[in-house]
Amino acid sequence: MPTVTFHKGGQTYTGEVPDNANLVVRAGIRQFPFPHLRYECGMGKCAKCACRVLAGAEHLPPVNWKEKKQLGERIESGYRLACQLWLGHDIELAQDAEVAPAREPAAAVGQP
Ligand code: FES
Repeated sequence: MPTVTFHKGGQTYTGEVPDNANLVVRAGIRQFPFPHLRYECGMGKCAKCACRVLAGAEHLPPVNWKEKKQLGERIESGYRLACQLWLGHDIELAQDAEVAPAREPAAAVGQP
């Protein structure tokens, strides 16, 4: 059973989750880390669930295309989309107060 340590708003929340747990799915059924985890779509489309991985990143699967699209350069700072992660090992995560979406594809349109 992985132990999840979750930091948000200056508070630290710790809980055990079953193997292969997804934190957004759990929050959706009001299990830890509910009500602290911010999320919305659950499908890698909104980036609301973005978290910075402080420990345990080595056990996570490679960043997928949805995370690359939503997080952009923040991946290099350790950000992942919680809704895209199924946890098999202990992990420590921090969620910022608010994370803006990565650059919009449309932003490049019209550039000289
Ligand atoms: S909840 Fe929308 S990207 Fe994870």
